[in-house]
Amino acid sequence: MRIFNLSIECYPVAKVGGLADVVGALPKYLNKIDGVEASVIMPWYNKPFVHDHSFELVFDGWIHQHRQSFQVQVMKERSKVLGFDLYLVKIPGLLDRDNPYGYWDESQQFLAFQHGVLHWLTAMEIRPDVLHCHDYHTGLVPFMVENCPEFSFLKGVKTIGTIHNGEYQGQMSWEMINYFPWFDGAKWGLLDWDGYINPLAAMIKCCHSFNAVSGGYMDELFENFRGLETLVRQEYAKANGIINGIDTEIWDPKVDPFLAFNYGKKDADSGKWKNKKEICEEYGLNPNLPLFSFIGRFAGEKGADFLPEIVWKSIRETYGALNIIILGSGDKNIENQLSELSHSFSNFALDLGYKEYLSHKIYASSDFLLMPSRVEPCGLNQMYAMRYGTVPIVRYTGGLRDTVEDISTGGSGLNFGEASANAAVHAIHRALHIFHKEGLMKQLVQSNMNFDFSWEKSAEKYLELYEK
Ligand code: ADP
Ligand code: GLC
Repeated sequence: MRIFNLSIECYPVAKVGGLADVVGALPKYLNKIDGVEASVIMPWYNKPFVHDHSFELVFDGWIHQHRQSFQVQVMKERSKVLGFDLYLVKIPGLLDRDNPYGYWDESQQFLAFQHGVLHWLTAMEIRPDVLHCHDYHTGLVPFMVENCPEFSFLKGVKTIGTIHNGEYQGQMSWEMINYFPWFDGAKWGLLDWDGYINPLAAMIKCCHSFNAVSGGYMDELFENFRGLETLVRQEYAKANGIINGIDTEIWDPKVDPFLAFNYGKKDADSGKWKNKKEICEEYGLNPNLPLFSFIGRFAGEKGADFLPEIVWKSIRETYGALNIIILGSGDKNIENQLSELSHSFSNFALDLGYKEYLSHKIYASSDFLLMPSRVEPCGLNQMYAMRYGTVPIVRYTGGLRDTVEDISTGGSGLNFGEASANAAVHAIHRALHIFHKEGLMKQLVQSNMNFDFSWEKSAEKYLELYEK
Protein backbone atom coordinates (compact mmCIF):
# COMPACT_ATOMS: atom_id res chain seq x y z
CA MET A 1 0.00 0.00 0.00
CA ARG A 2 1.34 3.37 -1.06
CA ILE A 3 0.60 6.38 1.14
CA PHE A 4 1.56 10.00 0.52
CA ASN A 5 1.46 12.31 3.52
CA LEU A 6 0.91 15.93 2.59
CA SER A 7 2.03 18.44 5.17
CA ILE A 8 3.62 21.83 5.47
CA GLU A 9 5.78 20.78 8.44
CA CYS A 10 7.96 17.71 8.89
CA TYR A 11 10.73 17.05 11.39
CA PRO A 12 13.68 17.53 10.90
CA VAL A 13 13.17 19.61 7.77
CA ALA A 14 10.86 22.30 9.13
CA LYS A 15 9.33 22.23 12.60
CA VAL A 16 7.12 24.73 14.34
CA GLY A 17 5.33 22.29 16.64
CA GLY A 18 3.90 18.81 17.04
CA LEU A 19 2.62 18.54 13.46
CA ALA A 20 6.25 18.27 12.33
CA ASP A 21 7.02 15.56 14.89
CA VAL A 22 4.01 13.49 13.82
CA VAL A 23 4.62 13.78 10.08
CA GLY A 24 8.31 13.01 10.58
CA ALA A 25 7.55 9.85 12.58
CA LEU A 26 4.30 8.24 11.38
CA PRO A 27 5.60 7.30 7.88
CA LYS A 28 8.83 5.97 9.37
CA TYR A 29 6.88 3.60 11.61
CA LEU A 30 4.40 2.69 8.84
CA ASN A 31 7.36 1.70 6.67
CA LYS A 32 8.38 -0.88 9.27
CA ILE A 33 5.15 -2.77 8.47
CA ASP A 34 5.36 -5.25 5.59
CA GLY A 35 3.74 -4.07 2.39
CA VAL A 36 3.47 -0.41 3.39
CA GLU A 37 5.30 2.37 1.56
CA ALA A 38 4.71 5.77 3.16
CA SER A 39 6.31 9.03 2.08
CA VAL A 40 6.02 12.75 2.78
CA ILE A 41 5.43 15.64 0.40
CA MET A 42 6.03 19.14 1.71
CA PRO A 43 7.00 22.59 0.45
CA TRP A 44 10.63 23.52 -0.15
CA TYR A 45 11.81 26.06 2.46
CA ASN A 46 15.07 27.94 2.75
CA LYS A 47 16.20 25.86 5.74
CA PRO A 48 19.54 24.38 6.86
CA PHE A 49 18.24 20.84 6.33
CA VAL A 50 17.54 21.62 2.70
CA HIS A 51 20.97 23.13 2.15
CA ASP A 52 22.74 20.22 3.90
CA HIS A 53 21.11 17.41 1.91
CA SER A 54 21.29 16.45 -1.68
CA PHE A 55 18.22 16.24 -3.87
CA GLU A 56 17.29 14.83 -7.21
CA LEU A 57 14.92 16.71 -9.52
CA VAL A 58 12.02 14.35 -10.28
CA PHE A 59 9.58 16.77 -11.91
CA ASP A 60 9.65 20.11 -13.67
CA GLY A 61 6.42 21.69 -14.90
CA TRP A 62 4.05 24.66 -14.65
CA ILE A 63 0.80 25.46 -12.88
CA HIS A 64 -1.56 28.28 -13.73
CA GLN A 65 -3.18 30.42 -11.06
CA HIS A 66 -5.32 33.43 -11.76
CA ARG A 67 -3.90 33.99 -15.27
CA GLN A 68 -0.32 33.66 -13.99
CA SER A 69 2.02 30.73 -14.56
CA PHE A 70 4.37 29.36 -11.93
CA GLN A 71 7.14 26.82 -12.31
CA VAL A 72 6.77 23.69 -10.15
CA GLN A 73 9.78 21.54 -9.38
CA VAL A 74 9.68 18.43 -7.22
CA MET A 75 12.90 17.38 -5.52
CA LYS A 76 13.42 13.98 -3.91
CA GLU A 77 15.77 13.71 -0.96
CA ARG A 78 18.60 11.29 -1.73
CA SER A 79 20.11 10.13 1.57
CA LYS A 80 17.16 8.01 2.78
CA VAL A 81 18.25 8.69 6.38
CA LEU A 82 14.74 9.69 7.43
CA GLY A 83 13.09 6.28 7.10
CA PHE A 84 10.74 7.52 4.36
CA ASP A 85 10.96 9.15 0.94
CA LEU A 86 10.75 12.91 1.19
CA TYR A 87 9.61 15.09 -1.71
CA LEU A 88 9.94 18.86 -1.59
CA VAL A 89 7.80 20.99 -3.86
CA LYS A 90 9.48 24.15 -5.07
CA ILE A 91 7.37 26.90 -6.61
CA PRO A 92 9.59 29.97 -7.04
CA GLY A 93 7.73 33.10 -6.06
CA LEU A 94 5.09 31.22 -4.03
CA LEU A 95 6.59 28.49 -1.84
CA ASP A 96 10.31 29.23 -1.54
CA ARG A 97 10.05 30.83 1.91
CA ASP A 98 11.92 30.72 5.19
CA ASN A 99 9.04 29.43 7.32
CA PRO A 100 5.75 27.62 6.94
CA TYR A 101 3.67 30.39 8.54
CA GLY A 102 3.41 34.11 9.04
CA TYR A 103 2.91 35.44 5.53
CA TRP A 104 0.05 37.71 4.45
CA ASP A 105 -0.70 35.58 1.38
CA GLU A 106 -0.80 32.20 3.13
CA SER A 107 -4.09 31.20 1.45
CA GLN A 108 -2.44 31.46 -1.95
CA GLN A 109 0.73 29.81 -0.59
CA PHE A 110 -1.13 26.71 0.67
CA LEU A 111 -3.35 26.58 -2.42
CA ALA A 112 -0.27 26.62 -4.64
CA PHE A 113 1.26 23.75 -2.68
CA GLN A 114 -1.84 21.58 -3.03
CA HIS A 115 -2.24 22.49 -6.70
CA GLY A 116 1.47 21.81 -7.37
CA VAL A 117 1.37 18.38 -5.71
CA LEU A 118 -1.73 17.24 -7.60
CA HIS A 119 -0.38 18.62 -10.87
CA TRP A 120 2.87 16.65 -10.44
CA LEU A 121 1.10 13.38 -9.55
CA THR A 122 -1.30 13.78 -12.49
CA ALA A 123 1.39 14.72 -15.02
CA MET A 124 3.61 11.81 -13.96
CA GLU A 125 0.64 9.43 -13.63
CA ILE A 126 1.54 8.57 -10.04
CA ARG A 127 -1.53 7.15 -8.32
CA PRO A 128 -1.00 6.35 -4.63
CA ASP A 129 -3.53 4.30 -2.67
CA VAL A 130 -4.02 7.02 -0.08
CA LEU A 131 -3.44 10.74 0.09
CA HIS A 132 -3.14 11.55 3.78
CA CYS A 133 -3.77 15.27 4.38
CA HIS A 134 -2.63 16.96 7.58
CA ASP A 135 -4.57 19.98 8.88
CA TYR A 136 -6.32 22.67 6.87
CA HIS A 137 -3.17 23.58 4.92
CA THR A 138 -3.75 20.51 2.77
CA GLY A 139 -7.50 20.25 3.43
CA LEU A 140 -8.56 21.20 -0.10
CA VAL A 141 -6.90 18.15 -1.63
CA PRO A 142 -9.89 15.78 -1.14
CA PHE A 143 -12.12 18.34 -2.89
CA MET A 144 -9.67 18.95 -5.74
CA VAL A 145 -9.07 15.25 -6.41
CA GLU A 146 -12.77 14.59 -6.89
CA ASN A 147 -13.92 17.82 -8.50
CA CYS A 148 -11.19 19.41 -10.62
CA PRO A 149 -11.07 17.93 -14.15
CA GLU A 150 -7.35 18.83 -14.32
CA PHE A 151 -6.72 16.01 -11.81
CA SER A 152 -9.21 13.48 -13.16
CA PHE A 153 -6.41 10.90 -13.33
CA LEU A 154 -6.48 10.89 -9.49
CA LYS A 155 -10.27 10.69 -9.13
CA GLY A 156 -11.20 7.90 -6.75
CA VAL A 157 -7.88 7.91 -4.85
CA LYS A 158 -8.74 7.56 -1.17
CA THR A 159 -8.20 10.62 1.00
CA ILE A 160 -7.74 10.80 4.76
CA GLY A 161 -7.73 14.05 6.72
CA THR A 162 -6.07 14.41 10.10
CA ILE A 163 -7.13 17.27 12.36
CA HIS A 164 -4.13 18.26 14.46
CA ASN A 165 -5.71 21.51 15.50
CA GLY A 166 -9.31 22.50 14.87
CA GLU A 167 -8.68 26.03 16.14
CA TYR A 168 -7.21 26.91 12.76
CA GLN A 169 -9.41 26.31 9.71
CA GLY A 170 -7.86 28.51 7.01
CA GLN A 171 -11.04 30.44 6.13
CA MET A 172 -10.66 32.66 3.08
CA SER A 173 -12.99 34.97 1.20
CA TRP A 174 -14.72 33.75 -1.93
CA GLU A 175 -12.51 36.06 -4.02
CA MET A 176 -9.80 33.43 -3.60
CA ILE A 177 -11.78 31.14 -5.87
CA ASN A 178 -9.88 32.79 -8.74
CA TYR A 179 -6.75 30.97 -7.56
CA PHE A 180 -8.37 27.51 -7.62
CA PRO A 181 -7.94 25.06 -10.47
CA TRP A 182 -11.17 25.01 -12.52
CA PHE A 183 -14.20 23.10 -11.17
CA ASP A 184 -17.90 23.05 -11.85
CA GLY A 185 -19.40 26.02 -9.93
CA ALA A 186 -22.35 23.88 -8.86
CA LYS A 187 -19.97 22.23 -6.38
CA TRP A 188 -19.37 25.46 -4.40
CA GLY A 189 -21.28 24.09 -1.40
CA LEU A 190 -18.48 21.59 -0.73
CA LEU A 191 -16.08 24.46 -0.07
CA ASP A 192 -18.38 26.84 1.76
CA TRP A 193 -18.94 27.19 5.46
CA ASP A 194 -20.75 30.27 6.76
CA GLY A 195 -20.04 32.36 3.67
CA TYR A 196 -16.32 31.60 3.47
CA ILE A 197 -14.22 29.01 1.74
CA ASN A 198 -13.25 26.83 4.69
CA PRO A 199 -10.48 24.29 3.89
CA LEU A 200 -10.95 22.32 7.11
CA ALA A 201 -14.71 22.04 6.52
CA ALA A 202 -14.05 21.05 2.89
CA MET A 203 -11.66 18.35 4.11
CA ILE A 204 -14.29 16.91 6.46
CA LYS A 205 -16.96 17.00 3.76
CA CYS A 206 -14.90 15.55 0.91
CA CYS A 207 -12.42 13.06 2.45
CA HIS A 208 -13.21 9.37 2.79
CA SER A 209 -12.31 9.37 6.46
CA PHE A 210 -10.94 11.83 8.99
CA ASN A 211 -9.49 11.69 12.46
CA ALA A 212 -8.48 13.89 15.34
CA VAL A 213 -5.16 13.23 17.06
CA SER A 214 -6.79 11.77 20.18
CA GLY A 215 -10.11 10.19 21.08
CA GLY A 216 -10.64 12.77 23.82
CA TYR A 217 -10.24 15.66 21.38
CA MET A 218 -12.51 14.02 18.80
CA ASP A 219 -15.24 13.82 21.48
CA GLU A 220 -14.74 17.52 22.29
CA LEU A 221 -15.03 18.52 18.62
CA PHE A 222 -18.61 17.24 18.49
CA GLU A 223 -19.44 19.81 21.17
CA ASN A 224 -17.09 22.68 20.38
CA PHE A 225 -15.32 23.04 17.06
CA ARG A 226 -15.26 26.76 16.33
CA GLY A 227 -18.49 26.55 14.37
CA LEU A 228 -17.97 23.16 12.71
CA GLU A 229 -19.84 21.14 15.38
CA THR A 230 -22.90 20.53 13.19
CA LEU A 231 -20.68 19.46 10.32
CA VAL A 232 -18.78 16.83 12.34
CA ARG A 233 -22.05 15.58 13.77
CA GLN A 234 -23.40 15.13 10.22
CA GLU A 235 -20.21 13.38 9.18
CA TYR A 236 -19.77 11.34 12.36
CA ALA A 237 -19.63 8.06 10.42
CA LYS A 238 -16.26 9.15 8.97
CA ALA A 239 -14.87 10.39 12.31
CA ASN A 240 -12.10 8.66 14.27
CA GLY A 241 -9.75 9.43 17.13
CA ILE A 242 -6.16 8.16 16.91
CA ILE A 243 -3.70 9.19 19.57
CA ASN A 244 -0.25 10.28 18.37
CA GLY A 245 2.80 8.31 19.31
CA ILE A 246 6.32 9.60 19.88
CA ASP A 247 9.46 8.71 17.98
CA THR A 248 11.23 6.69 20.65
CA GLU A 249 14.41 6.54 18.56
CA ILE A 250 14.78 10.32 18.66
CA TRP A 251 13.32 10.80 22.13
CA ASP A 252 15.43 8.39 24.13
CA PRO A 253 17.30 9.66 27.22
CA LYS A 254 19.74 6.74 26.85
CA VAL A 255 21.18 8.00 23.57
CA ASP A 256 19.81 11.53 23.12
CA PRO A 257 22.78 13.49 21.68
CA PHE A 258 21.45 16.78 23.09
CA LEU A 259 21.92 15.59 26.70
CA ALA A 260 25.21 16.10 28.54
CA PHE A 261 24.38 13.00 30.62
CA ASN A 262 22.48 10.09 29.12
CA TYR A 263 20.50 7.81 31.39
CA GLY A 264 18.07 4.91 31.40
CA LYS A 265 15.53 3.59 33.89
CA LYS A 266 18.21 2.05 36.10
CA ASP A 267 20.21 5.23 36.60
CA ALA A 268 17.36 7.70 36.14
CA ASP A 269 17.84 9.38 39.52
CA SER A 270 21.52 10.11 39.12
CA GLY A 271 21.15 10.86 35.41
CA LYS A 272 18.34 13.35 35.90
CA TRP A 273 20.20 14.95 38.80
CA LYS A 274 23.34 15.55 36.71
CA ASN A 275 21.31 17.09 33.91
CA LYS A 276 19.43 19.21 36.41
CA LYS A 277 22.63 20.46 38.00
CA GLU A 278 23.98 21.41 34.61
CA ILE A 279 20.92 23.41 33.57
CA CYS A 280 20.51 25.03 36.99
CA GLU A 281 24.11 26.20 36.92
CA GLU A 282 23.60 27.64 33.47
CA TYR A 283 20.46 29.56 34.47
CA GLY A 284 21.51 30.50 38.01
CA LEU A 285 18.97 28.22 39.74
CA ASN A 286 19.40 26.15 42.89
CA PRO A 287 19.47 22.43 41.88
CA ASN A 288 18.29 21.29 45.31
CA LEU A 289 14.85 22.77 44.67
CA PRO A 290 12.26 21.02 42.53
CA LEU A 291 12.37 22.16 38.92
CA PHE A 292 9.09 22.90 37.10
CA SER A 293 9.10 23.68 33.41
CA PHE A 294 6.95 24.78 30.50
CA ILE A 295 7.89 24.41 26.84
CA GLY A 296 5.72 25.71 24.05
CA ARG A 297 4.04 28.36 22.02
CA PHE A 298 2.80 31.36 23.96
CA ALA A 299 -0.79 31.07 22.76
CA GLY A 300 -4.20 31.03 24.41
CA GLU A 301 -4.69 27.34 23.54
CA LYS A 302 -1.65 26.46 25.62
CA GLY A 303 -2.89 28.53 28.58
CA ALA A 304 0.31 30.54 28.21
CA ASP A 305 -1.47 33.68 29.40
CA PHE A 306 -1.73 31.97 32.82
CA LEU A 307 2.05 31.61 33.06
CA PRO A 308 2.95 35.02 34.53
CA GLU A 309 0.43 34.54 37.36
CA ILE A 310 1.51 30.92 37.85
CA VAL A 311 5.14 32.03 38.16
CA TRP A 312 4.69 34.80 40.70
CA LYS A 313 1.98 33.08 42.75
CA SER A 314 3.76 29.77 43.07
CA ILE A 315 7.10 31.37 43.93
CA ARG A 316 5.51 33.78 46.46
CA GLU A 317 3.16 31.25 48.06
CA THR A 318 6.00 28.78 48.60
CA TYR A 319 8.51 31.43 49.68
CA GLY A 320 10.72 30.46 46.79
CA ALA A 321 10.72 26.71 47.42
CA LEU A 322 10.74 25.83 43.74
CA ASN A 323 12.36 26.75 40.44
CA ILE A 324 10.59 27.38 37.17
CA ILE A 325 12.10 27.40 33.70
CA ILE A 326 10.14 28.42 30.62
CA LEU A 327 11.18 27.94 27.01
CA GLY A 328 8.97 29.41 24.32
CA SER A 329 7.84 32.40 22.36
CA GLY A 330 4.73 33.88 20.81
CA ASP A 331 2.34 36.50 22.19
CA LYS A 332 4.48 39.62 22.82
CA ASN A 333 2.47 40.66 25.86
CA ILE A 334 3.17 37.31 27.56
CA GLU A 335 6.83 37.48 26.54
CA ASN A 336 7.14 40.94 28.12
CA GLN A 337 5.41 39.97 31.36
CA LEU A 338 7.57 36.88 31.72
CA SER A 339 10.72 38.85 30.93
CA GLU A 340 9.94 41.28 33.73
CA LEU A 341 9.31 38.43 36.15
CA SER A 342 12.58 36.75 35.22
CA HIS A 343 14.37 39.93 36.32
CA SER A 344 12.47 40.06 39.64
CA PHE A 345 12.64 36.40 40.68
CA SER A 346 15.91 34.53 40.89
CA ASN A 347 13.96 31.23 40.98
CA PHE A 348 12.59 31.83 37.51
CA ALA A 349 14.53 31.39 34.26
CA LEU A 350 13.18 32.32 30.86
CA ASP A 351 14.54 31.45 27.44
CA LEU A 352 12.62 33.17 24.68
CA GLY A 353 12.87 31.46 21.33
CA TYR A 354 12.73 28.10 19.64
CA LYS A 355 15.58 25.79 20.68
CA GLU A 356 15.26 22.12 19.88
CA TYR A 357 18.39 21.11 21.86
CA LEU A 358 17.25 23.01 24.95
CA SER A 359 13.82 21.38 24.92
CA HIS A 360 15.52 17.96 25.24
CA LYS A 361 17.67 19.21 28.12
CA ILE A 362 14.62 20.61 29.91
CA TYR A 363 12.58 17.40 29.56
CA ALA A 364 15.54 15.50 31.02
CA SER A 365 16.36 17.83 33.88
CA SER A 366 12.89 18.82 35.13
CA ASP A 367 11.05 17.18 37.98
CA PHE A 368 7.66 18.38 36.67
CA LEU A 369 6.38 19.63 33.33
CA LEU A 370 3.44 21.99 33.34
CA MET A 371 0.75 22.08 30.61
CA PRO A 372 -2.14 24.37 31.57
CA SER A 373 -3.68 24.07 28.07
CA ARG A 374 -7.17 25.36 27.34
CA VAL A 375 -7.23 23.19 24.21
CA GLU A 376 -4.85 20.30 23.54
CA PRO A 377 -5.70 18.05 20.58
CA CYS A 378 -3.00 15.59 21.61
CA GLY A 379 0.08 17.20 23.10
CA LEU A 380 3.46 15.59 22.70
CA ASN A 381 5.33 17.41 25.46
CA GLN A 382 3.73 15.36 28.22
CA MET A 383 4.77 12.13 26.47
CA TYR A 384 8.34 13.33 25.95
CA ALA A 385 8.45 14.41 29.60
CA MET A 386 7.22 11.01 30.80
CA ARG A 387 9.76 9.17 28.68
CA TYR A 388 12.45 11.29 30.33
CA GLY A 389 11.12 10.50 33.84
CA THR A 390 9.48 13.88 34.38
CA VAL A 391 6.07 14.06 36.05
CA PRO A 392 3.46 15.84 33.90
CA ILE A 393 1.02 18.32 35.46
CA VAL A 394 -1.74 18.83 32.93
CA ARG A 395 -5.16 20.32 32.55
CA TYR A 396 -7.67 17.56 31.98
CA THR A 397 -8.52 18.16 28.31
CA GLY A 398 -8.21 16.53 24.85
CA GLY A 399 -5.16 14.34 24.42
CA LEU A 400 -3.86 15.24 27.89
CA ARG A 401 -6.92 13.52 29.32
CA ASP A 402 -6.09 10.40 27.30
CA THR A 403 -2.40 10.22 28.23
CA VAL A 404 -1.99 11.47 31.80
CA GLU A 405 -3.82 9.91 34.71
CA ASP A 406 -3.80 11.52 38.13
CA ILE A 407 -1.83 9.89 40.91
CA SER A 408 -4.99 9.82 43.06
CA THR A 409 -6.58 7.29 40.69
CA GLY A 410 -3.50 5.16 40.20
CA GLY A 411 -1.76 7.21 37.50
CA SER A 412 1.62 8.86 37.63
CA GLY A 413 0.84 12.46 36.77
CA LEU A 414 -1.24 15.30 38.10
CA ASN A 415 -4.47 16.60 36.58
CA PHE A 416 -6.44 19.73 37.18
CA GLY A 417 -9.81 20.65 35.69
CA GLU A 418 -10.31 24.38 35.60
CA ALA A 419 -8.52 26.49 33.00
CA SER A 420 -7.02 29.03 35.39
CA ALA A 421 -3.75 30.04 37.00
CA ASN A 422 -5.18 29.23 40.43
CA ALA A 423 -5.96 25.64 39.48
CA ALA A 424 -2.45 25.22 38.09
CA VAL A 425 -0.88 26.69 41.23
CA HIS A 426 -2.98 24.36 43.36
CA ALA A 427 -1.59 21.42 41.34
CA ILE A 428 1.93 22.77 41.88
CA HIS A 429 1.35 22.66 45.65
CA ARG A 430 0.30 19.03 45.30
CA ALA A 431 3.43 18.37 43.28
CA LEU A 432 5.65 19.89 45.97
CA HIS A 433 4.10 17.59 48.52
CA ILE A 434 4.96 14.61 46.31
CA PHE A 435 8.47 15.88 45.63
CA HIS A 436 9.30 15.84 49.32
CA LYS A 437 8.19 12.22 49.72
CA GLU A 438 11.38 10.79 48.32
CA GLY A 439 10.21 7.23 47.75
CA LEU A 440 7.06 8.38 45.98
CA MET A 441 8.93 10.70 43.65
CA LYS A 442 11.34 7.90 42.68
CA GLN A 443 8.42 5.62 42.00
CA LEU A 444 6.74 8.22 39.79
CA VAL A 445 9.92 8.75 37.78
CA GLN A 446 10.04 5.01 37.11
CA SER A 447 6.37 4.56 36.31
CA ASN A 448 6.43 7.48 33.87
CA MET A 449 9.46 6.01 32.13
CA ASN A 450 7.63 2.70 31.83
CA PHE A 451 4.83 4.12 29.67
CA ASP A 452 4.82 2.98 26.09
CA PHE A 453 3.84 5.79 23.74
CA SER A 454 5.74 4.44 20.76
CA TRP A 455 4.27 4.89 17.30
CA GLU A 456 3.87 1.15 16.61
CA LYS A 457 0.34 0.96 18.04
CA SER A 458 -0.92 4.17 16.49
CA ALA A 459 0.68 3.39 13.11
CA GLU A 460 -1.35 0.13 13.13
CA LYS A 461 -4.50 2.18 13.77
CA TYR A 462 -3.75 4.42 10.78
CA LEU A 463 -3.12 1.34 8.68
CA GLU A 464 -6.54 -0.03 9.68
CA LEU A 465 -8.07 3.27 8.58
CA TYR A 466 -6.23 3.17 5.24
CA GLU A 467 -7.33 -0.43 4.71
CA LYS A 468 -10.93 0.40 5.48
P1 ADP B 1 1.85 22.12 19.43
O1 ADP B 1 2.10 21.41 18.18
O2 ADP B 1 0.42 22.50 19.63
O3 ADP B 1 2.74 23.31 19.62
P2 ADP B 1 2.73 19.66 20.76
O4 ADP B 1 2.76 19.31 22.21
O5 ADP B 1 2.05 18.72 19.88
O6 ADP B 1 2.15 21.14 20.66
O7 ADP B 1 4.20 19.73 20.21
C1 ADP B 1 5.10 20.75 20.49
C2 ADP B 1 6.45 20.34 19.96
O8 ADP B 1 7.23 21.51 19.75
C3 ADP B 1 7.25 19.47 20.91
O9 ADP B 1 8.18 18.72 20.17
C4 ADP B 1 7.98 20.53 21.76
O10 ADP B 1 9.13 20.01 22.39
C5 ADP B 1 8.33 21.52 20.68
N1 ADP B 1 8.50 22.91 21.12
C6 ADP B 1 7.54 23.80 21.41
N2 ADP B 1 8.06 25.00 21.70
C7 ADP B 1 9.39 24.86 21.61
C8 ADP B 1 10.50 25.74 21.81
N3 ADP B 1 10.32 27.01 22.15
N4 ADP B 1 11.75 25.25 21.61
C9 ADP B 1 11.93 23.96 21.26
N5 ADP B 1 10.94 23.08 21.08
C10 ADP B 1 9.68 23.52 21.24
C1 GLC C 1 -1.25 20.32 17.09
C2 GLC C 1 -1.87 20.27 18.48
C3 GLC C 1 -1.12 19.37 19.43
C4 GLC C 1 -0.77 18.04 18.76
C5 GLC C 1 -0.02 18.32 17.47
C6 GLC C 1 0.39 17.04 16.75
O1 GLC C 1 -0.22 21.24 17.00
O2 GLC C 1 -2.00 21.57 19.03
O3 GLC C 1 -1.91 19.13 20.58
O4 GLC C 1 0.01 17.25 19.62
O5 GLC C 1 -0.81 19.07 16.61
O6 GLC C 1 -0.72 16.27 16.38
